Amino acid sequence: MRKNIVAGNWKMNTTLQEGVALAKEVNEALKNQQPKCDVVICVPFTHLASVNQVIDPEKLGLGAENCADHVKGAYTGEVSAPMVASTGATYVILGHSERRQYYGETSETLKTKVNLALENNLTPIFCIGEVLEERENGTYSQVVKAQIEEALFNLTAEEFSKIVLAYEPVWAIGTGKTATAEQAQDMHAFIRQTIADRYGKEIADNTSILYGGSCKPSNAAELFAKPDVDGGLIGGAALEAASFMGIVTAF
Ligand code: G3P
Repeated sequence: MRKNIVAGNWKMNTTLQEGVALAKEVNEALKNQQPKCDVVICVPFTHLASVNQVIDPEKLGLGAENCADHVKGAYTGEVSAPMVASTGATYVILGHSERRQYYGETSETLKTKVNLALENNLTPIFCIGEVLEERENGTYSQVVKAQIEEALFNLTAEEFSKIVLAYEPVWAIGTGKTATAEQAQDMHAFIRQTIADRYGKEIADNTSILYGGSCKPSNAAELFAKPDVDGGLIGGAALEAASFMGIVTAF
């Protein structure tokens, strides 16, 4: 079901103590707010259970930043979807460009991860986006379309309706070089049409498509004002409660 969402992606930042303190700050800030969006923080595995203890689930959702493509077994160091769900998390980021780039995530492994997340009642925040070369050579639309088709279009309409998408142009992540609101709107509209072509207009119109890539309090309102931008997936600005709330209140 389509809704406005602002989700923080803490990535590999904060110790457990720092993370619990940040979660408490955000939770406290939300007590005095009636945001026009759902608010989520996606935190390192090590923080999930402790953060879950200090937040109000009615005001602040909790997610992981990944999960394994197996449900249990001899996979040293991995963390499964059932383990993530057991911490109280209800979201999981999948397919982030940093995992595709550094850890070789493929559409095949992501297809498995999405299915395991859904089977464990986790809402996937599924990341798609082109690199700078693909933006500059004009192939970005087909790249993003292929990322969606290869990892998600095996889902039934009912399963797909549980997916949140995050369009993150890789060249905008952590660079301070945000996509323009027009570039974001163009891609979000293209993504929504791609969904409509496969699952029909109703499913497409009910899919939340978030923008990620140097989203800040200074540019969030313009981005979120676009008809096909349903919120943001926030990296650096999520690591300070004040800047994260500056984005949350941009709707
Ligand atoms: O997943 C969100 C992240 O990739 C965006 O990072 O630091 O550009 O907001 P940042």
